[in-house]
Amino acid sequence: MKKLNQKVVLETKKLSKHFGGIKAIDNINMKLYENEIIAIVGDNGAGKSTLIKTITSVYKKDEGEIYISGEKAHISNPKDARTYGIETVYQDGGVIPILDATANLFLGRVKPKDNLLGKVFQFVDYKYMRKETVQLLDRLGVTLKDINAGVNNLSGGQRQSIAVGRAIYWGGKILIFDEPTNNLGVQQERKIIDLIKRIRVEFGVSIIVISHNIAHVFELVDRIIILRNGQIIGERIKEKTNMNEIVSMITGVAEKVTNSQSPPSIDTVLGH
Ligand SMILES: Nc1ncnc2c1ncn2[C@@H]1O[C@H](COP(=O)(O)OP(=O)(O)OP(=O)(O)O)[C@@H](O)[C@H]1O
Ligand SMILES: [Mg+2]
Repeated sequence: MKKLNQKVVLETKKLSKHFGGIKAIDNINMKLYENEIIAIVGDNGAGKSTLIKTITSVYKKDEGEIYISGEKAHISNPKDARTYGIETVYQDGGVIPILDATANLFLGRVKPKDNLLGKVFQFVDYKYMRKETVQLLDRLGVTLKDINAGVNNLSGGQRQSIAVGRAIYWGGKILIFDEPTNNLGVQQERKIIDLIKRIRVEFGVSIIVISHNIAHVFELVDRIIILRNGQIIGERIKEKTNMNEIVSMITGVAEKVTNSQSPPSIDTVLGH
């Protein structure tokens, strides 16, 4: 929940990304506060994914700046973004199907044994890594029937939980979810929604969620940022808005309604 004098953990200033003549995101100024959950919503092609990918430097920004906890950040590639504590969890979770949960958690960052074998031959301390994995999944409230199973044997929701665990385990402070509940069954959707709520409380992280599911947005977030044609056209505190308003902001209907209710032009009045 946003409180007065809460710290800003992420800020973009005039962030822009063009693809040829298309302004995929245009002059984006946004803030994310400590321990806050925000949603970025908008129609297909509004620029949501581009915004995330520009922040994490999957796409190189054309203009603008990014600040992390008040300091200007120099992010040239996704690895830099992770160094700043920004972790993105994509729909498929980005896990390797044939590996088990432990191997996925420690992907690319295995721990060598703390003895001569480890030091000289880089023997991996699998026991330690598995213990860490079990503890982490437990803290996340995720139960796997078989911890040694390849993650291709797990449900989509479980795979995504492992990706979330990995993001947190390696020090993610700002978590970004791009359509976290897409392609999931109803039960798994529920688990992911509950997991996102839980990690905010358990780990004190700040979270950005991109979602087309307005009901999920209203359940999860504190604040909603609405994008249209690459621009922020509004932002609302959840308590001070409703689903109708957000949907009409996304589609642009609100604007049309306002226009049609605006006073008649001088030409109309004069009968021209
Ligand atoms: N790699 C790219 N090359 C060229 N144009 C792109 C690229 N990525 C996105 N775009 C364009 O930028 C605009 C914003 O796309 P983006 O994928 O960010 O939208 P989105 O809001 O995530 O949409 P969706 O809800 O469909 O995922 C669109 O016009 C899209 O065609
Ligand atoms: Mg997208």
